[in-house]
Amino acid sequence: MNNLNQMPKVELHLHLEGGAPPAFIKGLAREKSIDIAGIFNEDGSYRFADFWDFLKVYEAACTTLTGPQEFYRLTLAVLEESAASGVVYSETFLSPDFCGGGDLGAWREYLHAIEEAAAKAEADFGITLRGIVTPIRHFGPEKARVVARCAAETAGRFITGFGIGGDEKSGALKDFSWSFDMAREAGLRITAHAGEWKGPDEVRAAINDLGAERVGHGVRAIEDMALVEEIAERGIVLELCPGSNVALGIYPSFRAHPIGEMYDRGVKVTINTDDPPFFHTTMAREYEMLHQAFDWDEGVFAKIARTALDAAFCDADTKTRILKTLEQAHG
Ligand code: HPA
Ligand code: ZN
Repeated sequence: MNNLNQMPKVELHLHLEGGAPPAFIKGLAREKSIDIAGIFNEDGSYRFADFWDFLKVYEAACTTLTGPQEFYRLTLAVLEESAASGVVYSETFLSPDFCGGGDLGAWREYLHAIEEAAAKAEADFGITLRGIVTPIRHFGPEKARVVARCAAETAGRFITGFGIGGDEKSGALKDFSWSFDMAREAGLRITAHAGEWKGPDEVRAAINDLGAERVGHGVRAIEDMALVEEIAERGIVLELCPGSNVALGIYPSFRAHPIGEMYDRGVKVTINTDDPPFFHTTMAREYEMLHQAFDWDEGVFAKIARTALDAAFCDADTKTRILKTLEQAHG
């Protein structure tokens, strides 16, 4: 179904650094004489054995992103690629840990560069970007507090949300509640990675301990049908990333991915790429694979794009504008 490629798409779960094409990172490493040859396969793709190895490779790749100018270039490259897949609105995780190490002044400079790139991408490619500030779970709750301060100080039209990524098996979500409370009090909306590497209880913790209105992945809620029902009833939105889950071996195929059953049970599912070049995917590929796996047609994808836009953390004016783009295409 060729039209799937053209359909306007809304993405809510993309790690900005995780969108870096390997050739882009390799080029930066060469420019700066940083030796990270070990993170690439011979064919130029990223090399990692499992999720925990992926996190190390990700952090090594980030060592080439040494300043705001590098993030300007990264943001443009990532948005150009997303727009080529039909993405018209992207909510992207931004990590002050990789943008000045939590220093507020440095963070503001990185953010300025990212916003400048976003404005250029909006003019050139017709894609709108918003940021979700994200501490990294395995860096611990103390670093997360510093990140929460950065988030609270820069909350506004561009920085709309607060989340948490990294190693789900590290520590407990409730250890981060101080940071989430601070972000919420600054007006930020809340999401959290949970239920990718841990089961249903972790999804419950994201919702109940942190007040998440969206859950990053949350896919393993499927192991507890009472929880699936509760998520559907409460209208909690799942930022599902099927291609990421398949690439990392959580499910053997798209066909085996719970997104089909969750959609059928009335859960607000959304479709996302997570870290697309790492997982050899794009939004267009996610659509195509889901079409093949579940025979979803344009009507289903249009409904899911609308669900994602409704769940976006941006202001009402931006939503209205993006909605017009969706409606023009979907009728
Ligand atoms: N999951 C969790 N943390 C991350 C990821 C991811 O896919 N990418 C970067 N940080
Ligand atoms: Zn993620």
